[in-house]
Amino acid sequence: MRQKYFITTFGCQMNVNDSEVIAGILESIGYESAATIEAADLVLLNTCCVRENAENRTFGHIGNLKELKEKKPDLIIGLCGCMAQEANVVEKIRESYPHVDLVFGTHNLHQLPELLQKVRETSSRVIEVWDSEGEIHEGLPIKRDETFRAWVTIMYGCNNFCTYCIVPYVRGRERSRKPEVILETVRDLAANGVKEVTLLGQNVNSYGKDIGDGWNFARLLRELAKTDIARIRFQTSHPKDLSDELIEVIAAEPKICRHLHLPFQAGSSRILKLMNRQYTKEQYLELAQKIQQRVTDIALTTDIIVGFPGETDADFNDTLDLVQQVRFDGAFTFIYSPRVGTPAAKMEDPTPEEVKKERLMKLIEIQNKISLGKNQNLVGTLQEVLIEGSSEKDAAIWSGRTSQNKLVHFEPAGQVAIGDLGVVRVTGAKTFTLEGKLLG
Ligand code: 5AD
Ligand code: SF4
Repeated sequence: MRQKYFITTFGCQMNVNDSEVIAGILESIGYESAATIEAADLVLLNTCCVRENAENRTFGHIGNLKELKEKKPDLIIGLCGCMAQEANVVEKIRESYPHVDLVFGTHNLHQLPELLQKVRETSSRVIEVWDSEGEIHEGLPIKRDETFRAWVTIMYGCNNFCTYCIVPYVRGRERSRKPEVILETVRDLAANGVKEVTLLGQNVNSYGKDIGDGWNFARLLRELAKTDIARIRFQTSHPKDLSDELIEVIAAEPKICRHLHLPFQAGSSRILKLMNRQYTKEQYLELAQKIQQRVTDIALTTDIIVGFPGETDADFNDTLDLVQQVRFDGAFTFIYSPRVGTPAAKMEDPTPEEVKKERLMKLIEIQNKISLGKNQNLVGTLQEVLIEGSSEKDAAIWSGRTSQNKLVHFEPAGQVAIGDLGVVRVTGAKTFTLEGKLLG
């Protein structure tokens, strides 16, 4: 009987994409996917360390697996992803979680077959984490979760060292995948019926800086738009690297979805400086306005951190002011979480957690009103959607995403299928979703 694997993924799309590669590697050596965690011979946790919350949830999860391991001593439990790159986490696993058999990091996924063999042969735990990134390993197999849209990682790592962020420490320096490899991947996907690709990188706007030869992100997008793929998305953009050339490509190329995720993190220029974000409030506002004027139907979304060390009420008001001036379509909001080894973790942070929570609630309330208003403006319009499937609760309600990345729940007309592009008339708006009717 074939061995079965079960992967649990935490964190961002980059991890989701890595898990697809891990699944591809495992299937290439004869494993098959398990329907439930209990049925698995190998359980892998692909982890995220961007905030403490994510880490605590993962440790909870690892703790829960102990019982399964007791029932099934041959079960292999593995931990990989960003947490595996943290020395303090590996130490804690070594000391307190003896039921974890395997730990590997973000830079050595490709070693999984040999590491698994080592676990089986030696019947002892194997911990193999590379401190620094090597060459990009191309040609790894991949088993994608979906048939109609796909993640395509275009670069790994980050060079920005925002002072709160652990990503540069666990994902290494920026490395761009070769344009030929990306183009071939997208051509193959399109030939296999995939309609939409989302290009992934911690900072896609600095794509190509390490390649030379005149390559940059705008040029990559221009080349990708010439393929048969119907829609192109990308994330994440850092404001400091967003060029006029990129704005022009978005404006000129209808295949590029009308959505830009542009984290601003904090509205106060003083806090932005402490965060090492390399722009001021005014520069961000100017950039957002330039994009909104040039691409009038663009939906802007953002990430915001509340309660960075030393943030005052006045600083926080700058965040609220920026949110109100830009009028984002949506925002991911977080309370600052100190990460071991980052410069911000050593900064004085006198603000009580309660105050931070109040600020967060206020921010969410204001943003939700704006999100609802933005969605209400779309009522009555026609929107192209990529159909994702029917609702779990009600099979008669289908859903899809617009170019602006808005989720629409709609009543179908005639035959519909997952992966079709259709047009809906928007009939209603909520804070996070739209309602509509598919045109026949
Ligand atoms: N605390 C809170 N939020 C963080 N982010 C990154 N690091 C931290 C941290 N230490 C947020 C940023 C980033 C998003 C992916 O996570 O907003 O854009
Ligand atoms: Fe972290 Fe800043 Fe890099 Fe984003 S750009 S991954 S927030 S260091």
